[in-house]
Amino acid sequence: MIVTLYSTKGGCGKTTLALCLAAYWSRRRSTVLVDADPQASLELCDKQVLPVPIVRDTSEDIGKTVARLAKDYERVVVDTAGFKRKKNLDALTQADFVLIPCKPSPFDVREAVAAVGLVREIAESKERRRRPIHHGIVLTMAQRTAITAQIRQDLIATEMPILSAQIGQRVAFVETPLAGLPEEDSVAFLEVRLLAKEIRRRANG
Ligand SMILES: Nc1ncnc2c1ncn2[C@@H]1O[C@H](COP(=O)(O)OP(=O)(O)OP(=O)(O)O)[C@@H](O)[C@H]1O
Ligand SMILES: [Mg+2]
Repeated sequence: MIVTLYSTKGGCGKTTLALCLAAYWSRRRSTVLVDADPQASLELCDKQVLPVPIVRDTSEDIGKTVARLAKDYERVVVDTAGFKRKKNLDALTQADFVLIPCKPSPFDVREAVAAVGLVREIAESKERRRRPIHHGIVLTMAQRTAITAQIRQDLIATEMPILSAQIGQRVAFVETPLAGLPEEDSVAFLEVRLLAKEIRRRANG
């Protein structure tokens, strides 16, 4: 299963969630992380606490790289750049599931809705018509406030594919690159687990 993290909104939590999902899945499944972002944020991770191979590819072969890795690994998690970039599209074309992180703020919501539009356009392309691209928005860095609940309701009302899983604003997530996956008995870990399971379920259609 290829899961691509995508949004043109910078700083919405793509890399953090890519790391968490890859670390979570790697406990039981062969997993690889693909860094398709020229910023190379994943290079800053402590390899001792993140026992997942990282393949860097910011070239136009990204689509082929991802497809090749999917033959050898059960889970391929792709982190893309947080700005408009043609090569992001090639990573999206290969995805089984596109995860669009979105902070509960109007600026982020606008970009997330645009990302959904783009994924749907790619899904209609002749390369993909036979195999759907499942996709969903996950609210990240969310506080349990009335505004967050309102934004969720608005996304549902406009038929946006919003996931039930939600990621809170937590120090454990800031520390992930250096400390690895949050402790198993933490709320942060539970949030990652619920997200991973929902992605799997939705990707199976
Ligand atoms: N759930 C969270 N709780 C608290 N802080 C978070 C959370 N997720 C991400 N952050 C912090 O927010 C910042 C941006 O996160 P991250 O780098 O993952 O976003 P990104 O979408 O990959 O950014 P870019 O577009 O620059 O690649 C980082 O400082 C990160 O530690
Ligand atoms: Mg990033």
